[in-house]
Amino acid sequence: MSGPIGYAVIGAGLVGPKHAEFVELIDGAEVRAICDLREDRGRALAERHGATWLADYRELAERDDIQAVSICLPTSLHLEVAETLAAAGKHLLVEKPLETDPARARRLIETCRSNGVKLATIFNRRFVHGTKTLQRAVAAGRLGRILVADMIFKSWRPAEYYSDSGWRGTWAQEGGGALINQGIHGVDLMTWIAGPIVRVQAVSRHLRHDHIEADDTTIAVCEYASGAVGVIQGTTSIYPRQLDRIEVHGEHGSVFLEDYKISKWQLEGSEPDPPDQQLEHLPGGRDGTSVGHYLQLADLIAAIREDRDPVITGEAALPSLAVVQAIYTSARDRRPVDVPAPH
Ligand SMILES: NC(=O)c1ccc[n+]([C@@H]2O[C@H](COP(=O)([O-])OP(=O)(O)OC[C@H]3O[C@@H](n4cnc5c(N)ncnc54)[C@H](O)[C@@H]3O)[C@@H](O)[C@H]2O)c1
Repeated sequence: MSGPIGYAVIGAGLVGPKHAEFVELIDGAEVRAICDLREDRGRALAERHGATWLADYRELAERDDIQAVSICLPTSLHLEVAETLAAAGKHLLVEKPLETDPARARRLIETCRSNGVKLATIFNRRFVHGTKTLQRAVAAGRLGRILVADMIFKSWRPAEYYSDSGWRGTWAQEGGGALINQGIHGVDLMTWIAGPIVRVQAVSRHLRHDHIEADDTTIAVCEYASGAVGVIQGTTSIYPRQLDRIEVHGEHGSVFLEDYKISKWQLEGSEPDPPDQQLEHLPGGRDGTSVGHYLQLADLIAAIREDRDPVITGEAALPSLAVVQAIYTSARDRRPVDVPAPH
């Protein structure tokens, strides 16, 4: 494909503007359209990028100057929008979670496959130094057999975060609350780092945000396929927010991450890989985990040009969604639940 790849972002709320900002920084890509039902948000973002604003995403299907689209919409809209755009030949980058449950996510994957378009799903926290280093260390056997792998996300959202959106914290439109929105980043990291989670036993509550349907606090005990055990904790009820923690203990030692940075590396005779200087100089490289968004957008553009799969495909979203669904089932039915194989 010669010339820049025309890009559109659907959803100009919390995360959509980040996609538009980063696409502008990628050689060979151009933001040409912003779609949002809300004119105030959509038009303002479009003007910032010299793009057109549309209220109806279906118009993107008619636009020959658009080849790739980020879907940054309320989660239950991801499938319907993907079906329309994949049928029109648009390559897609869909925000996490890919959909509200594994069955809908599989339909989304299938629609992209049958229409021959690329599908990437955002898991931006896999791309920072701490998580990459820990994942590589576990995969290389540096920690030995993993015994305990925990993820503790004690985060905070004010009441308006839910009340202003209308969709967050609802079963129908979000598929849950704190666990599926904030916690899924960590669930993805735990399955990526420590291997499949096969059984869960959970408690899920709304302790603070009692006007939402779903959870603001979920805690699960997990069994990994390897025999390791651990805790998964996703919340939006803890004030003030604490650093996101990942703690992995193996036969040979322990590694702790705080907000995805290595805070303890307790492996005798072994140092962590040095920080990647290049990463720090990329867009978003100094502000936590945003660099992952930049890298995933750049990867989708490259994947289209090179006609290859993106580094994080739609299928990669299935294990974490299967765990999230099993945790919610366990909490609702008050029993341990086996996590079905995701594919
Ligand atoms: N990776 C991350 O760090 C990250 C961060 C935030 C959100 N997200 C994910 O991104 C998605 C969007 O979340 P958000 O917090 O930005 O939501 P948001 O509510 O802030 O923004 C969604 C936007 O979509 C617009 N919209 C709704 N229905 C529409 C339609 N039919 N057509 C066009 N526009 C429509 C709304 O007007 C709103 O501006 C969710 O899946 C969420 O889980 C990911």
